[in-house]
Amino acid sequence: MGPGAWWRDAAIYQVYPRSFRDSNGDGEGDLQGVIAGLPYLADLGIDAIWLSPFYKSPNKDGGYDVSDPRDVDPRFGTLADAKELIEKAHSYGIKFIADIVPNHFSSDHIWFKEALAAPKGSASRSRFHFYDGRGENGEIPPNNWISIFRGPAWTRTVDGQWYLHLFDSSQPDLNWSNPDVAADFEKTLRFWLDLGVDGFRIDVAHGAVKENLLIDHRDPERLIDALRLDFLEISQQERAGLLSDVPFFDREGVHEIYRKWRLILDEYPGDRMTVAEAFVYPSSRAARYVRPGELHQVFNFNFMMLGWDAAAMRASIEGTLAELVDVKAPATWVLNNHDTPRVVTRIGSPRKARALAMLIHALPGGVYIYQGEELGLPSAALPDSARQDPAFIRSGGTDKGRDECRVPIPWRSTLPNYGFGTGTPWLPQPTDWAQYSMDTEAKDPESSWALYKKSLSLRHSHPALGGEGVLTWIDAPEGIMYFTREPGLEVVVNTSDLDISLPTMGTSILLESAKGNSLQDGVLTLATNTTIWLQL
Ligand code: NOJ
Repeated sequence: MGPGAWWRDAAIYQVYPRSFRDSNGDGEGDLQGVIAGLPYLADLGIDAIWLSPFYKSPNKDGGYDVSDPRDVDPRFGTLADAKELIEKAHSYGIKFIADIVPNHFSSDHIWFKEALAAPKGSASRSRFHFYDGRGENGEIPPNNWISIFRGPAWTRTVDGQWYLHLFDSSQPDLNWSNPDVAADFEKTLRFWLDLGVDGFRIDVAHGAVKENLLIDHRDPERLIDALRLDFLEISQQERAGLLSDVPFFDREGVHEIYRKWRLILDEYPGDRMTVAEAFVYPSSRAARYVRPGELHQVFNFNFMMLGWDAAAMRASIEGTLAELVDVKAPATWVLNNHDTPRVVTRIGSPRKARALAMLIHALPGGVYIYQGEELGLPSAALPDSARQDPAFIRSGGTDKGRDECRVPIPWRSTLPNYGFGTGTPWLPQPTDWAQYSMDTEAKDPESSWALYKKSLSLRHSHPALGGEGVLTWIDAPEGIMYFTREPGLEVVVNTSDLDISLPTMGTSILLESAKGNSLQDGVLTLATNTTIWLQL
């Protein structure tokens, strides 16, 4: 690990609390379940956990529809449980990152109820985006924007006005030009900072400020395709074109918000941090979120969207590192999360997923691991009748939604429920998940879990890993990525379908994502779809 603040090269584990571990038998994970899982996480070797929202919420969008950001939803426990979790995580040396959702509230939030009850043009309505419609009787929405979950981005209220929701109609967008909004979020930040959280993951960080709210977009349907992290049937080129100008994302005003948030965080001791969920294009736009005086990290989604292709990955790594050096921020590397197909499924091969993990674990900066990724879990096939994602519901089923990556994770190889809890899990677990359970994998030195544990441990002990130190590329044949990290580490990644041999300065094998490699007389033979770390 490097010498800088803890978060600069941390391995941060995303807990999706509803699917992590159920302590009370209601079929849904909860905060006591996360507490029970802390010894496992400490053993795995992660540095921090980020919890997706556990705040009061009607749970129309997995808790990203917050009705009280300063209280815990009973399905997850109590505020006392949250305090206990933060303290216990700290006692294991694990930092705690909370989620914050500035783009919208739940329609159950008291502000929105007040807004609906208040007249047009009232102060209560001005906390959201209420507008009259177009057409003779105002029956046409104020513009043609589509919700990211499909269907119109506007819903009409009983008195005829429309309100904006980039996501579900139960998630009205907040109007950040109203000072009440900024003041309330400052209160929320301080509330959790006072409780001891070490940082925040900022949901839709690029979305809080809107411009041109009354102007139509040229192709709103396709724009939404391009914005979905789990929508892969679109070319990089088309995605780039559409994402280069999204009227409701990445407006200049969002940076002003985060400069203020940064001042608040800086008042607190102990290197508190923020990580922006800002899927913006090109990646140089993402770097603007982590300029000095703004946020600390931004998820590197542009890298995550790439296929298993050495040339494309190298170009993206080089670009990312160069852009971030300019703003003095560390990179982040992420392979999946609760919104995307699991990495094994996305790239279609457990073997490639292992090699990809070892690649990103060897890069400068921080890594994010989504719960179950360390087990090599694939996305779970689900019957439509089990799906709950608003994206599935709002699209009439044409968009299958994100439930498949949110299925409760397996702790033990035994049925029922693979040790997740005693109640029937809120999403059904596949019948063949015993092989991925933590107890099975912990016994197998070749398991995905064992690979993650070794690699995370080396990130702590090897002086070249983590940190933000020099990465030097070495010329290599097509399909191969070859670089050194100082001091003393060589990394070779074979994305091709063939085994390859190449000269190396490496003297011994530190870690390999698959067997079948050899190092003899200065020649490395590396099997197909494998990453290897060599000691120089
Ligand atoms: C991004 C979150 O990760 C996702 O789960 C959620 O649906 C949207 N933001 C809306 O909050």
